[in-house]
Amino acid sequence: MGILTGGGDCPGLNAVIRAAVLAGTQRHGMEFVGFLDGWRGVLEGDAVPLDEERVRPLLAVGGTVLGSSRTNPLADGVDEGVARVRKQLKALGVDALLAIGGEDTLGVATALHEAGVPVVGAPKTIDDDLSATDATFGFDTAVQTAVDACDRLVTTGASHHRAMIVEVMGRHAGWIALHTGMAAGAHVTLLPEEDVDLDEVAATVRAVLDRGQAPLIVVSEGAKVHGDEAVRNAPRDAFGHVQLGGAGEALEHEVVARVPGLSTRVTVLGHLLRGGTPSAADRILATRFGLSAVEALAAGDLGTMASLRGVDVVQVPLAEATGVLRTVPESRRAETAGLRW
Ligand code: F6P
Repeated sequence: MGILTGGGDCPGLNAVIRAAVLAGTQRHGMEFVGFLDGWRGVLEGDAVPLDEERVRPLLAVGGTVLGSSRTNPLADGVDEGVARVRKQLKALGVDALLAIGGEDTLGVATALHEAGVPVVGAPKTIDDDLSATDATFGFDTAVQTAVDACDRLVTTGASHHRAMIVEVMGRHAGWIALHTGMAAGAHVTLLPEEDVDLDEVAATVRAVLDRGQAPLIVVSEGAKVHGDEAVRNAPRDAFGHVQLGGAGEALEHEVVARVPGLSTRVTVLGHLLRGGTPSAADRILATRFGLSAVEALAAGDLGTMASLRGVDVVQVPLAEATGVLRTVPESRRAETAGLRW
């Protein structure tokens, strides 16, 4: 069996690898290789052996020991890509693949499955925005890291009567911002899913200051905080979303313009949220995904991916993993609407 990790890394990837290799070896007598740097390793036949001794220490190790990339093996055409993948798998004696990744990696896995390449998937993204699973590992760790940062930032913010603006990852879905904002007690939380009323944000900041608190604002990197002109001229991605960086700084600019004399500081958490040791919850979910995926490989349940449905991990068609992002619904946004924290 061949394992690969593709796309942005996240805490828990190594836990999937560990569980899959240990269960596959011990329960089914499988042998494993790990392809390096996602689909690049598959295309180039760049693989290393993965045995029990290699994977046993990996449960709590962040990142991915296999490396990752955003290489798309089908970029030069599906037929050509499939032929190259098949050739490399044959040369290495690999019967089937376990692809661990997000929207892009699983999209490639889906296309390979449709072309007859034996593959199963396991979903990952710290953004937690895959529609085919109720949760992905990495998200819990990312939110805890962001909340820890906010807890620290509010004490220094309070000392200096400053508004602290914290930018978190999430280009299309605001799950990290929503949960960070709730858990850190943010006064304002801005998500990509909603239009931002900058005057209302400024009024909230003023009110928080007036009652003697230091405002905490959590903003998704994809939140619509840029001025109208910047948005009009901005490039758009495949989803039609505006591609403008610097949400934290843009927001600071707009709020300071509306609250004269306001002192602010912006902290961009960025890749800090993707690093480090996975939380207990993420280790468990990652392990369950690895176990489910390897059972699917053993049973020949190909073209499927591990998925959390309620409390159960089940295999669902790979094709369900792509196309529709799971964004924050209005009902979740309404839960805290209008409350003064
Ligand atoms: O999809 C995961 C993610 O971490 C996003 O939240 C973020 O926008 C993006 O990846 C960053 O990607 P890169 O590692 O290429 O900068």
